[in-house]
Amino acid sequence: MTKQAIEQDPVHVGDLPGKHIVLGLSGGIACYKAAELCRALIKQGATVQVVMTEAAEQFITAVTLQALSGRPVYTSQWDSREANNMAHINLSREADAILIAPCSADFMAKLLHGRADDLLSLMCLARPIATVPLLIAPAMNREMWAHPATQRNMAQLSADGATILGVGSGFQACGETGDGRMLEPPELLEDIVAFFTPKVLAGQQVLVTAGPTYEAMDPVRGITNLSSGKMGFAVARAAREAGAEVTLVAGPVSLGTPRGVKRIDVKSAQNMLEAVMQQAQAATVFIATAAVADWRPASSAERKIKKDGSGQAPQLAFTENPDILATVAQSPRGVSGALFCVGFAAESHDLEDNAQAKRLRKGVPLLVGNIGPATFGRDDNALLLVDAQGSRELARASKLSLARQLVAEIASRIKQAR
Ligand code: C5P
Repeated sequence: MTKQAIEQDPVHVGDLPGKHIVLGLSGGIACYKAAELCRALIKQGATVQVVMTEAAEQFITAVTLQALSGRPVYTSQWDSREANNMAHINLSREADAILIAPCSADFMAKLLHGRADDLLSLMCLARPIATVPLLIAPAMNREMWAHPATQRNMAQLSADGATILGVGSGFQACGETGDGRMLEPPELLEDIVAFFTPKVLAGQQVLVTAGPTYEAMDPVRGITNLSSGKMGFAVARAAREAGAEVTLVAGPVSLGTPRGVKRIDVKSAQNMLEAVMQQAQAATVFIATAAVADWRPASSAERKIKKDGSGQAPQLAFTENPDILATVAQSPRGVSGALFCVGFAAESHDLEDNAQAKRLRKGVPLLVGNIGPATFGRDDNALLLVDAQGSRELARASKLSLARQLVAEIASRIKQAR
């Protein structure tokens, strides 16, 4: 990436520039993950003020969190470092959000009742409720999590305006397996970034295709392409951050699913078409980033095609695949505009002319052009937005940054059109 692109790319200043997060730790073994979370928040440009309960101090030291956050940690409501001796007021007034991670079952119960007998709970109660959001990352044993009291507390905390970030599932420190683990720091980070993102796609159902397709010629071989799926996954993540309900139909790629996104894995173009046609009924936006194979072997052998010793290569015949984007765009919902369709074009030359021709051929209002060999597998890209009025360039940046710009663009077009 050029120096200019890095400077213009919001990802390089972090996803949380200027945000001040008060990170509260209550008692639980997941406190060890809070250290990594603190670091991750700072890496994204946030400042972090750590507040710990007495129980949290049993699991991790304030020294660790002071070193990671670069600020003295607060543990007591009687902290005389504050001139007015009101740490609970001062700390909560400067926060953009208070994040309790880990939030123990006991601390949830405490919050629910508005109890305030230690600094962290006191600060949560004293926070200006309309301007300082409270985010909760629960962490507890699976039985504690499933207990009706905890579930009831969680529902009530949510009704009281807190945002519950959910829990992970799997092997727990106690040796049991189930729900209740604290989410991993990268998952929490993704949720926090999404929390702060303006909800320009609220109420929209966004359908995204991503990755290559795989067209089998026999049970062990097939044809595919070099698409990594990164652009489509970034688009799905950006749309979810912007408040949309997102379904991602993914070809064979080994990328993690963005948080909060429903993923449907498919292999071939025909599988992808079926999944898309089903999901398109409810969708309001369709973004086709997948590099769908243009052709598939006319037939797929039931058994592996073997060399027969003759030196002759097998004769392969191909059939053209359905054009998923064109099919959707030219369906009644696509034509009426009820489903706003966006295509991608990976070209090797004459990007604007080729992209414009493709836009008309597919029948979509917006087509996003890029140079194929300069994007496949990379984390950055440059895009050209092509519509009936002409074209506009989105300068080279990370795929996530470009996906966010594209989502903002789509949101403003939908707003104008509807
Ligand atoms: O025709 P071409 O493959 O260049 O078109 C690219 C655009 O069309 C992309 O948005 C791609 O996801 C979509 N497409 C499709 N089904 C195909 C071929 C392409 O949805 N069979």
